[in-house]
Amino acid sequence: MTTFDADAIRARFPALSLTQDGRLMAFFDGPGGTQVPDSVIDAVSRYYREANANHGGAFATSERSDAIVENAHAALADVLGVDADEVTLGPNMTTLTFHVSRSIAATLRPGDEIVVTGLDHQANVDPWIAAARDSEAIVRTWEPDLADCTLRLDALDELLNERTRLVAVGWASNAVGTINPIREIADRAHRAGAWLYVDAVHAAPHLPLDARAVDADFVACSVYKFFGPHLGALYGRRAIMNSLPAYKVGPAEHRFETGTGNHEGDAGAVAAVDYLADLGARFGGAAGGASRRERLLAGMRTIRAYELDLYRYLAGRLGELDGVRILGLTAAADMERRTPTAAISIQGVSPRAAAEELGRRGIAVWDGDFYATGLIERLGFAPDGVVRIGLTHYNTRAEIDRLIEELAGLPAATGAPA
Ligand SMILES: Cc1ncc(COP(=O)(O)O)c(C=O)c1O
Repeated sequence: MTTFDADAIRARFPALSLTQDGRLMAFFDGPGGTQVPDSVIDAVSRYYREANANHGGAFATSERSDAIVENAHAALADVLGVDADEVTLGPNMTTLTFHVSRSIAATLRPGDEIVVTGLDHQANVDPWIAAARDSEAIVRTWEPDLADCTLRLDALDELLNERTRLVAVGWASNAVGTINPIREIADRAHRAGAWLYVDAVHAAPHLPLDARAVDADFVACSVYKFFGPHLGALYGRRAIMNSLPAYKVGPAEHRFETGTGNHEGDAGAVAAVDYLADLGARFGGAAGGASRRERLLAGMRTIRAYELDLYRYLAGRLGELDGVRILGLTAAADMERRTPTAAISIQGVSPRAAAEELGRRGIAVWDGDFYATGLIERLGFAPDGVVRIGLTHYNTRAEIDRLIEELAGLPAATGAPA
């Protein structure tokens, strides 16, 4: 097995060569959207050159296009550990979730209950509030423990009952990085007779995923968060999807894919998944004859190991700065329970001012609530939010050192009040 070679990996991402004022840009905005390797860019452009056509035509470009669309379903199935026919592709996670929530709402009765959390991105909260409104169901909120931004299973037990029909939870928090115990949550939801809808958008770039192993009924993710184009994917357990009423036009083959898909995005999605599988073959020790799913899992395990090491380094360096606090899980023993995403507050500096100041120096971080609005409000950081430093496998210690240097100079530079 070859050691993870961050320089070789970085060379595959054209955007990592972008400069600002003569210095390389440093991208810590991965949780908002990642950069893409050249193979993804090539696949999208090749689609337009060689395969640009609508679905089902009796000619070469349409046949090529259909093969790409089919492969995109298979590729996303490999990401989620499911079968290709259980994958629905769509514009993004939010749209897919609103779409299937409408079908689920049609099966709810007045007085049925849905559980959402106070930790997660609103994309896995607001569709369920809307679904409940349409069906006169009741929404219950699973409150996070604000001391470490985790969800406690005993608090879920108090919410579940025979009326609970669905539990909506994130695999990992896009704001503070908490990884939730999905298998345990699934077991509890199923014991109550409820379905589990998992938002894996933030988990997908950082963790090997297996929808069957965690026994989720639905898992949604977004390819632009893991090195591919702007495209969303939804797994729905076959028996459930087949039982739901579908809002579709008559002749359409796929029950939950509406209209013409993002075919060029599908081509890029295949390339993104192949890129991750390639990391597994190069650095993860995946055997020669391993399937794409096996190589992908090896790639994700390699990414996870590299990112955790990098995150420990980041956390240590942030700890050197006065007035900087990392939210969520911070104990050394808890690192396995988080992604390499650090939400920080900086005493005396507004999040926007910090992000602008860093942006002027070619360093991309995010500020605000990242649509994890409920959590940021509960933590008392609304409306300005916090600063989010999101690491991915293409970040390096040298970039972190540069970030720390700039952060250390911030209060003096901005002079903003607390
Ligand atoms: C955890 C999480 N869930 C959902 C979303 C929404 O994803 P999309 O942009 O694909 O709708 C995001 C986007 O930031 C996210 O981070």
